[in-house]
Amino acid sequence: MSNFKPTLALALCFTLSAPLAVAQQILESPQLGNTVTQMELSELDLIASEESVLPAGSGTAFQGREIYAAKCASCHGAEGLGGAANQPLVGGNMRSEDAPIRTVGSYWPHASTLFDYVRRAMPANAPKSLSNTEVYQVIAYVLYMNGLIDQYKVINAETLLALKMPNAGGFVDMSASD
Ligand code: HEC
Repeated sequence: MSNFKPTLALALCFTLSAPLAVAQQILESPQLGNTVTQMELSELDLIASEESVLPAGSGTAFQGREIYAAKCASCHGAEGLGGAANQPLVGGNMRSEDAPIRTVGSYWPHASTLFDYVRRAMPANAPKSLSNTEVYQVIAYVLYMNGLIDQYKVINAETLLALKMPNAGGFVDMSASD
């Protein structure tokens, strides 16, 4: 043991103990990642309903026609009847004898869902790529294709909530009165 150098051993100890302490901390930490910023949160907090306010902006079907043709028709068809997505946005009848075709027009009880869904999830190949104004415009076009509004009707936070959808009462069982 004539070669033993206490200072060297001590230095070695310190050098090793620092990473060990960090490793220990990592093991003890719950590893929940970084704190979410207000900015990041606002990008996720997108629920639009009658309780929460829809964002500013407005649009007509007339303005939304081009957006629909460029960004939606490839999957939903030029008239909204299906297309490659096999998901029609137009037509259907919840009172049909056969299995009903469920679309925005025939099935969705609230128009605000349309804003929420499109802003959050569509176009499916580029979700959240539309501005709020573009969402208002393109959903106006979807409502127009369903014959629910005319092409110049201005759709905004107020008019969207006021719009009565054909199947608004379809989720309430009127026969179960007792
Ligand atoms: C790349 C293909 C694609 C594109 C482009 C696309 N969609 Fe979709 N869309 C889908 C698919 C697939 C679904 C069904 C998703 C599901 O049920 O989970 C869907 C569902 C929807 C629905 C819900 C329909 C329902 O009754 O459940 C709406 C509304 C909608 N899309 C609107 C749009 C609008 C508006 C655009 C253009 C801005 C658009 N989509 C572009 C593929 C697409």
